[in-house]
Amino acid sequence: MKNRSLVSINDLSREKILSLLEMARKFEENPNRRLLADKVIGSLFFEPSTRTRLSFETAANRLGARVIGFSDATTSSASKGETLKDTIMMVANYADLIVMRHHLEGAARYASELSPCPVINAGDGANQHPSQTMLDLYSILKTQGTLENLHIHLVGDLKYGRTVHSLLFAMRHFNPTFHFISPEELHMPEEYREFCRQNNIPFTETTEFNEEIIAQADILYMTRVQRERFNDIMEYEKVKNCYRLTNSMLTNSKPNLRILHPLPRINEIAYDVDSNPKAYYFQQAQNGLYVREALICDVLNIEVK
Ligand code: CP
Repeated sequence: MKNRSLVSINDLSREKILSLLEMARKFEENPNRRLLADKVIGSLFFEPSTRTRLSFETAANRLGARVIGFSDATTSSASKGETLKDTIMMVANYADLIVMRHHLEGAARYASELSPCPVINAGDGANQHPSQTMLDLYSILKTQGTLENLHIHLVGDLKYGRTVHSLLFAMRHFNPTFHFISPEELHMPEEYREFCRQNNIPFTETTEFNEEIIAQADILYMTRVQRERFNDIMEYEKVKNCYRLTNSMLTNSKPNLRILHPLPRINEIAYDVDSNPKAYYFQQAQNGLYVREALICDVLNIEVK
């Protein structure tokens, strides 16, 4: 890659991941550091977002940078037919860094190859969401005290879920055991199962989601069934209510269990789980701020002391 873009979690070595997590820890101690007073960050969201966009923009603000961009592509000239290439070339004229979410898989890689300034992938279709993965890793490290040798249960939409795909790739450095829990229609694609086999990562697969299965987990990673990824709405209707985690299902869970979810949730986690100390999804989203401060500084090659 010709610049320091972050497109795929696979671009990061184990050492790099650990060093970024250490940077995030420093930002959690002190999030307000004017390290980017002369920088402009382009925030291009071709798809809807709450957490990713707002935490990137908060990170930029807390670092003293200014933010330009759009949260709705219909207000940009993309709605008049301007190509992604031209949009990227224009924004790179104005900004020092582009943070981009796009519905097309591979859009972030394409943008990073064109852009004279670095690009951070804020989610490209069903492909990857590397900054989410970094905050997931930070959340796992904070709650478990380690990233090593954990039983990680991935639940829900494992077919289209870019967060679970990125997490699976990242965890290859840390000797995990995965448990894939999904309806048949949304099971983990073969390329990711093959990745596990090639990297000697043990995994189980089931359509069952119950107390007994939850009792084995260190991390229960819940996901939403994403209506926007289905071409056939009837297929979505069949699986949209496949799993629902309730507080009573956690009775026999391990003391160290933490429940993660990239959010937004629809109905897959009942509200009665929110007050359980094992529910960690709101803190997980907060961790996104510190991790994204670290990622912005890293791609801009800014030293953090
Ligand atoms: N986790 C996540 O990507 O949330 P948003 O879609 O709200 O950014």
